[in-house]
Amino acid sequence: MQKSMLDDGHGNGNDRQITRLPALGNGAGSGGVDAVGVLDSRMLPDREFIAQWDAVIVETSQKDRLLSQAILNFTLREKVNRAKLPLHGLIVLHGPPGTGKTSLARGLAARTAETIGKIGQFRYIEVEPHALTSAALGRSQRAVRDLLGQTVAEQAERGPLIVLLDEVETLAADRSRMSMDANPIDVHRATDAVLAQLDQLAAKYPHLLFVATSNFTRAVDGAFLSRADLIENIGMPGPEACRAILQSAVEELARSFPATGHISQDADFGRAAEHCVGLDGRRIRKLVISACALNKQTAIDPNKLTAADVLQAAKQAEEESKSVREEHP
Ligand SMILES: Nc1ncnc2c1ncn2[C@@H]1O[C@H](COP(=O)(O)OP(=O)(O)OP(=O)(O)O)[C@@H](O)[C@H]1O
Ligand SMILES: [Mg+2]
Repeated sequence: MQKSMLDDGHGNGNDRQITRLPALGNGAGSGGVDAVGVLDSRMLPDREFIAQWDAVIVETSQKDRLLSQAILNFTLREKVNRAKLPLHGLIVLHGPPGTGKTSLARGLAARTAETIGKIGQFRYIEVEPHALTSAALGRSQRAVRDLLGQTVAEQAERGPLIVLLDEVETLAADRSRMSMDANPIDVHRATDAVLAQLDQLAAKYPHLLFVATSNFTRAVDGAFLSRADLIENIGMPGPEACRAILQSAVEELARSFPATGHISQDADFGRAAEHCVGLDGRRIRKLVISACALNKQTAIDPNKLTAADVLQAAKQAEEESKSVREEHP
């Protein structure tokens, strides 16, 4: 096989380096932001986020593209005329569920801070769109304005800031496809408010970057997408990536249950990896856990896990995903 173009953060298909990282940031909540719609705030870089970035196996070129675009936002935006080079400070990741979008978005924040940390202390805010749009009837617009116009602006005043808008379709819902049930006027206004705030923030804070994720881009407003500096599709893993993800999951198990270390050399492991094609990364990692749960003895002592168990769990996961696809084509 030619040298893999897949990347786990260091391009070597191995995430053991995570344990050697120095203590970074101070973990969840270390940013100290406590406001409606804020799920987490941290100082960057953050060790946990770097581990998430490293754990996602995608083409090296895709991670490079993301990181370069994020860096450019901080190096270029303050120096160019927006009318001529319109950088909005928005990166959108979209793709099917369980393909690593949220992990990549968090990791991107941490890696960006790590790479260009000399420009200042980076901070991170994770927005929970559901908390904003589930606000009482008619209040979404206000909630969005408070969060973006006040909380985010305050943090952006303090230095470089990266904001994750996870599952952004809730926040920037496509106004042209809005059904007339639910609360269309409120949602419409919330989307308008997001767009207006994004423009204002982009104009005022060149050291602010939004990273948005969605597994349903058709539901995201066109005007929001048109502001994106980069829209990256995070697709289902190909055969080589499936194998690497399965191997990474088994290696993680072997860190605590060393007898499982040989599993990836077994022929059944290769067969299991073939059954993973068509599954998302989350499913592939989870099937190693399902394999441990196939019988009680293995659950009591996961050292007893065999490659045959992993193969059986992979076949089951493949079947389950086929039947889900038949039910929801
Ligand atoms: N390509 C991949 N390589 C390795 N691990 C992956 C990959 N894709 C997903 N995973 C793993 O699956 C889990 C879920 O990832 P994550 O939450 O980032 O996915 P997501 O795309 O945001 O999902 P959703 O759309 O459901 O929110 C994580 O443990 C992640 O490491
Ligand atoms: Mg996600």
